[in-house]
Amino acid sequence: MRSLRRALGRELRIRHNTDNLTSNLLITGASQLLTLHGRAPRRGKTLSNLGIIRDGALLVREGLIAAVGTRAEVEALAECRGAKQIDFGGRVALPGFVDSHTHLIHAASRAEEYELKIAGASYEEIARKGGGILNSVKKLRAATSEALKKRALGALGEFAAHGTTTLEAKSGYGLDVASELKILALHRELNQEQPLEIVSTFLGAHVVPAEYRSKTGGASSYVWLLMETLIPEVSRQRLAEFCDVFCERGAFTREQSKIILNAGKTHGLVPRVHAEQLTRSGATQLGVQLGAASCDHLEHISRADIRALAGSNTAATLLPGCDFHLGLVKYAPARALIEAGAIVALATDYNPGTSPTQSMPMILSLACTQLRMTPAEAIAAATINGAYALRREKQIGSLEAGKQADLAVFDVDDYREIPYYFGMNTCWMAMKKGQIIFQKAHSPVAGPGEIPYDKDDEGSRSPV
Ligand code: NIG
Ligand code: FE
Repeated sequence: MRSLRRALGRELRIRHNTDNLTSNLLITGASQLLTLHGRAPRRGKTLSNLGIIRDGALLVREGLIAAVGTRAEVEALAECRGAKQIDFGGRVALPGFVDSHTHLIHAASRAEEYELKIAGASYEEIARKGGGILNSVKKLRAATSEALKKRALGALGEFAAHGTTTLEAKSGYGLDVASELKILALHRELNQEQPLEIVSTFLGAHVVPAEYRSKTGGASSYVWLLMETLIPEVSRQRLAEFCDVFCERGAFTREQSKIILNAGKTHGLVPRVHAEQLTRSGATQLGVQLGAASCDHLEHISRADIRALAGSNTAATLLPGCDFHLGLVKYAPARALIEAGAIVALATDYNPGTSPTQSMPMILSLACTQLRMTPAEAIAAATINGAYALRREKQIGSLEAGKQADLAVFDVDDYREIPYYFGMNTCWMAMKKGQIIFQKAHSPVAGPGEIPYDKDDEGSRSPV
């Protein structure tokens, strides 16, 4: 409540400087407005604190939140006069999801490997037979930028349709200079041409590409290429903020990962790591030592790894979609991580090999049933802690004055229904910086409940 008053106070001071009142947007009708206000990142018990306002409202100015409160409180502000209005019709609204781990750019699915997996082939067996990441590398190198962009735009539409407003995207299916730069250039282009924010990560160290595997010392030569050519070029062109490594048997060793991540750091790229996904590699403690923004996956972490994460500022990003898609039973120990005080985040890991989904609500469902997180913990992990994992917790991830007006609205009565329903999409609207980027189409079956403005109630929504 104190922060609400602060927000309103700040709002009242600012309004005198504002000439263009028509750029203001008044949002009302959130039966539960999940603000997630307060300190970030969230650890332990604070992960459950959603900061819910009943009958919540927001005032948005030029894409930023100017005030948050109950409808009565926000409507009482003079700045609401002349504002455009949107009514959420009693639905549940929260910060747009921040999906902090995706492999957005790839050329095609790997549906041909799906039946092999179902028949019992492991991820590593498929990779050894030329499937896996190298299969996607072949496909990407053969694809044009236009085709990759078209596929990515389709995926971004789906992300928005499931309530995601910011996502991280990794390169890593190019694995040669031209193809890696092509992917990263697409991240930049897409940022300019569509509304979701894409945070770019360089993952040249996904696996050693085929052309380096055949020669002796090939892996070292590839690490050299990353250090001497690719990382400096990515940094020079400012194509990525982060540098990631897949530290795993069959990919990169802990020692190679350290060299690559340190080279990235030297060039201003913040480390993040694919850690302990299929086996325990020691990548988590390496990530913590290097001050990584996040260690991701963590299915095979040890107690010492949990302690290391809990005592650090590195986010522990869990990706239960991978285990679900691969039919694995060993999920990451989310409860132990939360109870130890680690910064737990959730992400889709959208990619063609282990997690072909753009749905954060599905990830929330898996987090609840498989990771034993509560709906409240899952929502905080997918919003404010996701934002923290991308070093954007001051701009996004909660609904507080001064932050971006990024919202996901769900057609449910209670926030717990967001993970409760699965395999269906209850997202009704997504908004980025105050602009509607997705709205569920009016369904002739659903009736007037699908219409954002309830005409009968219009009088009571008039601006003050
Ligand atoms: O996060 N583990 C490494 N990278 C991806 C999988 C990539 C793929 O199989 O294409 C992941 O699971
Ligand atoms: Fe990944």
